[in-house]
Amino acid sequence: MKKLGLASITLLVSGLVFASLGYDDEARANGPELAENEFGILKTAEGAEETFYACTACHSEMIVAQQGLTRQGWDEMLVWMVEEQGMYEIEEPDRTKILDYLSTHYNEDRPHFPR
Ligand code: HEC
Repeated sequence: MKKLGLASITLLVSGLVFASLGYDDEARANGPELAENEFGILKTAEGAEETFYACTACHSEMIVAQQGLTRQGWDEMLVWMVEEQGMYEIEEPDRTKILDYLSTHYNEDRPHFPR
C-alpha cells in the first residue's frame, strides 16, 4: 500500500509537469506571426523600413504613397514635416535613404499610386 501511494504521487506530479509543458507549447504556437507585408502598402524595397517607421508615427503610410514628388519635392516635404508638423529631424544616413526611396518609388510618375 505504501509503494502504491508513492507511485500515484509520482504520477500526479509528472502529470502536472506535462500539463504545464503543454500549455507553454500552445502559447508559443499562438505567438505573433509576421504580417504579410511588414510595411503596409509601401513598396518593399531598400529604404522602405526607414520610411515606414519615420512616417507612420503620425499618419498612415497611405498619405505618403498617395503623393508623387521629385526628389527636391520630397526634400521640401520633409523640411515642412519638421518645421510645421512637429516631425523630429531624421538623422543621416536614414534621411538620404528615405529620400532615395521616396524619389525612386513615389516620384511624379506615381508607379505605386494606391488604387
Ligand atoms: C510628427 C508627426 C509627423 C511625422 C513623423 C510625419 N508627418 Fe507627414 N504629416 C503630418 C501631419 C500633421 C500632416 C497633415 C498636415 C496637413 O494636412 O495640414 C502630414 C501630412 C503629410 C503629407 C500630405 C501633405 C499634403 O500635401 O497633403 C505627406 C505627403 C506627408 N505628411 C509625408 C510624410 C513623410 C514622407 C514622413 C516621413 C519621412 C512624414 N510625413 C512624417 C505629421 C507628420
